[in-house]
Amino acid sequence: MNATELSVSRGTAPDSGESMILAQGVRLSVPGAPDILAGIDLSVEEGEFIAIVGPSGCGKTTFLNMIAGLATFTSGHLTIAGGAPKAGRRDTAYGLARDALLPWRTAQQNVELALQVRHVAPEEMHRRAAEMLERVGLADAAQRFPAQLSHGMRQRVALARTLVTEPRLLLLDEPFAALDAQTRIRMQEHLKLLLMRYSGTTVMVTHDIGEAIALADRIVVFGNRPAAVRVIHEVRLGSRDRKVSEVRADPAFGKLFERLWEEIEGHAS
Ligand SMILES: Nc1ncnc2c1ncn2[C@@H]1O[C@H](COP(=O)(O)OP(=O)(O)OP(=O)(O)O)[C@@H](O)[C@H]1O
Ligand SMILES: [Mg+2]
Repeated sequence: MNATELSVSRGTAPDSGESMILAQGVRLSVPGAPDILAGIDLSVEEGEFIAIVGPSGCGKTTFLNMIAGLATFTSGHLTIAGGAPKAGRRDTAYGLARDALLPWRTAQQNVELALQVRHVAPEEMHRRAAEMLERVGLADAAQRFPAQLSHGMRQRVALARTLVTEPRLLLLDEPFAALDAQTRIRMQEHLKLLLMRYSGTTVMVTHDIGEAIALADRIVVFGNRPAAVRVIHEVRLGSRDRKVSEVRADPAFGKLFERLWEEIEGHAS
């Protein structure tokens, strides 16, 4: 392995700096069953893109929900921008695999919804939504309803809606899982383009190792339930300003892929 291209660090307890997300020994125990989280230690800096990978059922979604303030933990510490996690934060966006667009609103109106609930003035709302749809290649489809759009197009509308508010914290749980492989790579390219102009912090849970390598600055591998951070990979493939296809063609991509696969599958029960 070339140390200039990628490096690995063990998941050690982070210090308490000015992290966007700081988890220290975050544990989730449930009565009468094995713990879900054994104690997560993780520090995410503002502006970083983190991918969380790990075996199915190990607690990735649960941990993401904790960051979003939608789930509780039984011990440990978790802070978001220095404060306790809180549901419904205006500066946080949560994107999921199902696009959840409102069928009676056009693509443009669906994107506008995110701004409407934040009381953005109508003119600015129209402009920002239109600009966002253009950036995901849907300028021509702005006036169409979800039923008139393909699955991939709906997903792009959902992505535009998630990012139109320029959230400080973007949480994504397998956002492209429901898409075919080709559309998924196209969506990753769209997300990358959108993120070039975005200074917020992203935490994405994914089962797609290639997606994690192509998009993330660091990849956090969770172990089996009860999960802890098994290892953290720093991805140094210049991935921020390279196309997904370029990153995938890099020999270091294959090496890291193989390694991650072994770390996840090699331990899967
Ligand atoms: N509050 C809770 N009480 C009891 N069990 C829970 C609770 N929250 C989550 N679980 C269980 O914890 C485990 C982890 O669930 P979670 O959905 O976080 O896994 P995951 O890593 O996201 O899996 P997948 O990759 O399949 O999406 C599951 O067995 C789930 O049923
Ligand atoms: Mg999950």
